[in-house]
Amino acid sequence: MCGIAAYLGWQQAAAILADALRRLEYRGYDSAGVATLNNGELHCCRAVGTISALQKKLIGKPLPGTMGIGHTRWATHGSVTELNTHPHFSMDGKFAIVHNGVVENFASIREFLSLQGYNFYSETDTEALVNLIAYHYAKEPENATKDRFLESVRKSLLHVRGAYGIAVICCERPMEMIGARNSSQLILGIGKDELFLSSDVASFTTHTRDVVFLNDNELVHIKNDSFAITTLNMEEVAAVRQQVDWDTVAVELNGYPHFMLKEIFEQPHALENAIRGRIENDTATAHLGGLQMTAHELRGINRIIFCACGTAWCACLVAEYFIEKIARIPVEVEYASEFRYRNAPLDQKTLLIVISQSGETVDTLAAMREAQRRGIRVLAITNCVGSAIAREANGGIYQHSGPEIGVASTKAFTSQLCIAALLALQLGRLRDLSEADGMEIIGALKQLPAQVKSILDQSSHIQAIAERYQSCTDMIFLGRQSMFPIALEGALKLKEISYIHAEGYPAAEMKHGPIALIAPQCPVLCLACNEENIFEKTLSNIQEVRARGARTIIIAREGSPIGVTDDVIWIPPAHDVTIPILATIPVQLFAYHMGILRGCSVDKPRHLAKSVTVE
Ligand code: M6R
Repeated sequence: MCGIAAYLGWQQAAAILADALRRLEYRGYDSAGVATLNNGELHCCRAVGTISALQKKLIGKPLPGTMGIGHTRWATHGSVTELNTHPHFSMDGKFAIVHNGVVENFASIREFLSLQGYNFYSETDTEALVNLIAYHYAKEPENATKDRFLESVRKSLLHVRGAYGIAVICCERPMEMIGARNSSQLILGIGKDELFLSSDVASFTTHTRDVVFLNDNELVHIKNDSFAITTLNMEEVAAVRQQVDWDTVAVELNGYPHFMLKEIFEQPHALENAIRGRIENDTATAHLGGLQMTAHELRGINRIIFCACGTAWCACLVAEYFIEKIARIPVEVEYASEFRYRNAPLDQKTLLIVISQSGETVDTLAAMREAQRRGIRVLAITNCVGSAIAREANGGIYQHSGPEIGVASTKAFTSQLCIAALLALQLGRLRDLSEADGMEIIGALKQLPAQVKSILDQSSHIQAIAERYQSCTDMIFLGRQSMFPIALEGALKLKEISYIHAEGYPAAEMKHGPIALIAPQCPVLCLACNEENIFEKTLSNIQEVRARGARTIIIAREGSPIGVTDDVIWIPPAHDVTIPILATIPVQLFAYHMGILRGCSVDKPRHLAKSVTVE
């Protein structure tokens, strides 16, 4: 949540930062601001609203200087006002800071500083931090061995409890900047005679792909075109330089009206990437190299706990069906935010698997750390190379979905399901899954990209359906077995994109309460994609809601005898392991078209942010 960017080099900083913030906007879009330093003077421009509001202001008020910091905000402390917008300044006017995260003990820091005569102008936790830096700077003597700027930031951070990714500049330090992180991503980009700091590499890949991922409790001190990394305890850190290979085209709309639609249409390619190089035809299995576990160790696992948030949590529920059915290992699924505080019994034969597109979700990271603290091995399925979750897991599987910019997770979700299927196959083949059954799964996975494409071709049909339902006030999504998590995901997608109240239920649960909601303005979307008797039972549930006046949309395998319905979306007949992936595509397109028809901001839905880095 929130995105920070900083630049120090030879180009005008404000323009570079405004462009970087545009690319970071998915992380928060309540308000945004930029501060630059020029000839010992700090300049600032802030605006409430999206980055375009800031850009407009910057046209009327260009900020001079070749170094600066920028921020796009998702409000935590304090309402959405210009006063609460970053950058924040110290009372003495010497320091400017941008901050992603939460200073949990800001109240006590503020109280301490108030007693020292400091005044505060915003309601933010960040203003406490920048004044603490100014306080230490004022007290810190100029010293031949220690850098006063670095020392004041370091000492301040030692007092901070909570999460932060920060960039700080000081009007007395031309061409210097300090960045630091704890539990909030911060990446250094190394260009030719210019350096970048950001919460996401995507913000500067048009300038450089040469990066250093900072670790928790590290500070980077930039001076001119060089930098040094130290820990909070003043130990020197050798920078590990890496090349990121994300295509910059992937962070552009590339002709699509919205990132959400672009990413929905990228799914055939994303699924190919998730599968590529991971199938072994000879032994009818999958090989997920990043697991860092031997076959013997994998056979020794007798329980798997999946942990995640939001859409990734829905992916965990599908993984539960796959792994229990194919590999016969008991699986439990937990919300990361609950698991982290619950003293769940764990033993050495338990494996924790976290799923996170961003690899930054704070609750998922905390759940993973808690399990590791208790000696449990943790694997991660994530899309973001170098993210905290990717680096701290004991092993894992990259999704290779490419950057997902739309706040609603789409291609990342189906890639997660695909990887769950590969994992189930690998675990299954180490146990009782026959070669023939393994080959069937492989065959199904290979057909997947083309089948997804055939459903994408129905986008205008789904749009026409959405037109008939756009004025509904509520919607219920039903499904049984592996279709139940897709019902949950479909309801979540519709809620976040169109602001229609939606609920997902196991189809038979309807009769235990929710059926009371059925009314003409509350249609039912039913995922009737299961086979044989489960399909028939789902049809009965559809008739129950129709008998009470519900309008129904059915998603079903081509040729299934669905009976009477208002609308239908057909998906190709497929194996049980790929059906949940195929059934997801229509619910994504439905949510997208509903959002557009209702005039919603589909890429940046209200109140949401792409990576949730606060509890
Ligand atoms: O980055 P993560 O996968 O950890 O994010 C988890 C959720 O915040 C995320 O899936 C969220 O629910 C999406 N907005 C759903 O579209």
